[in-house]
Amino acid sequence: MNQSKHFPADFTWGVATSAFQIEGASAADGKGPSIWDTFCRQPGAIKDHSDGSIACDHYHRYQEDVALIAALGVDAYRFSMAWSRVQPDGKGAWNEAGFAFYERLLDALEANHIKAHLTLYHWDLPQGLQDDGGWMNRATAHRFADYAAEVARRFGDRLATIATHNEPWCTANLGYGNAQFAPGVADARQAIQVSHHLLLSHGLAMTAMRAVGSKAKLGIVLNQWTADPATDSAADHAMAELEYARSVQWFMDPIFKGRYPELALRAHGADAPQVHDGDFGAICQPIDFLGCNYYFRSWCSAATPPLPAPGKEGFTDMGWEIHPQGLTELLLKLKGEYDLPPIYITENGMANPDQLVGSEVPDAGRIAFVRAHLHALQAAMDQGVAVHGYFLWSLLDNFEWNSGYEKRFGIIHVDYATQQRTFKDSAIWYRDFIASHP
Ligand code: FCB
Repeated sequence: MNQSKHFPADFTWGVATSAFQIEGASAADGKGPSIWDTFCRQPGAIKDHSDGSIACDHYHRYQEDVALIAALGVDAYRFSMAWSRVQPDGKGAWNEAGFAFYERLLDALEANHIKAHLTLYHWDLPQGLQDDGGWMNRATAHRFADYAAEVARRFGDRLATIATHNEPWCTANLGYGNAQFAPGVADARQAIQVSHHLLLSHGLAMTAMRAVGSKAKLGIVLNQWTADPATDSAADHAMAELEYARSVQWFMDPIFKGRYPELALRAHGADAPQVHDGDFGAICQPIDFLGCNYYFRSWCSAATPPLPAPGKEGFTDMGWEIHPQGLTELLLKLKGEYDLPPIYITENGMANPDQLVGSEVPDAGRIAFVRAHLHALQAAMDQGVAVHGYFLWSLLDNFEWNSGYEKRFGIIHVDYATQQRTFKDSAIWYRDFIASHP
C-alpha cells in the first residue's frame, strides 16, 4: 500500500520529545528545580525509582541528536522548553545561560533545515511557583503569560509554531486529580480549578505573544480521544457522553466557544471552577493551529466490574488499547463540532519492550502501529479534515514520567548506561516512508 501518495506535498513529518524527558542536566548552568525534580524524590512516585537528572543527557548531546533527526529525513522537530532553565524561579530574573542552550539547539536545527515546533509547558512547572501555590494560584497564569511573551519576543521568528500547553488534561487530572504526576495532589475539586487556570494561562499567553508580534503560528496541544460505550445500554451511552464532555469538550469549548460544556459543568456540581468575569473572553482567543495527541480511545462501561475493551488489535506495553480508527472518528467528530484551524497530530506512538539484538532493534509492532494510524489519519483527511503534519512520539526512548525508564516509546533506542543511540527498525521504516513521499 503506497499511503504516501495521499499526503499533500507540503505535509510536515516530524518527531517529538519534551524537555524533562530527555534533557537531564537538571541543575546545570543556573537551572532552577521543577516540580518533576521534586516529585521524583517522593518515595514510590516513580516506578523504577529513577529521576530526570540525566535522562538522555540531551542537554550535552543535542548536536548528536539533531544529527539523528536529520538522518531520519523529517521536516520538523517538536520539543519543549524547561521554564525553570530560562527563569529559574518562574518569576523575576531570566537565565541567559538557559536561553543560550535553546539558541544552540535552534542553530543546529536551522543548519539542518529542520523546522522547530516549541511547546512552552510540558508539565515541568518551576518549583518556585509551586511554592506559591502552583496552578491552584491564579497568579501562575499571569507568570506563564510573562514567560510566553519573553520566549516569543526572543525566538518567535525562529520557530514554526509555539504551543502554550501540552495536554492540560494531564496537568490537571494526573497532577491534581489522582496524584500520578507532579505535584502529586489527589483532589477532584483542585483538579477542576487547575484546569480553569491552565485555560486562562493559555489565553493570556496567546494575547501576550501576539502583542510582541511573534511570527510563529500559535496554538495549544490537547490529548484527545473518542469515548465509546461498551454496550448499547443507556447507562453506557450516558457515561461515554459525559466522559467526552469532561475531557475533550472541557478544553475545546472554552477555547472555541467561550464556555464550559453544560453536561460536564452540571456533573462537577459544587466542584465547578471559580470563573471570574472576563475569563472566557481571555481564553477564547483565535488559535493558528490545534495540536492533537492521540494514543487510544476511552472505553466506557457502567457495569461492575467494567467490561474490558475488546482490544482486537492488541494493547501496547503501557496497557493502552491499539485503536487506530479512533483517530479518524475523533477528527471527524471535532470537525463537526468546531470551526477548526489547521491540525497537527503532535503525538502518536507506542511503548514496546524493545531490546537490542546485536546492532538492531526489531520493533515490527511499532511499525504496524504507526502505519495503521497514518492510514486512519489519511481517512480523516480524505473526508475533509485539514491536517498539516504528524509528529511521531518519540524521537528517543526517554523518561516516561511515573513509569521512569521502563517504558520505551522511542524510534531510537537509548542504552542508558552508555547513552548509545541505535535506530530501531521503526526509525528506518519511518525514514524510508518519508523519503518515498513525493
Ligand atoms: C503523552 C505525553 C508525552 C509522553 C506520551 C507517551 O501524554 O505528552 O510526554 O509521555 O504521552
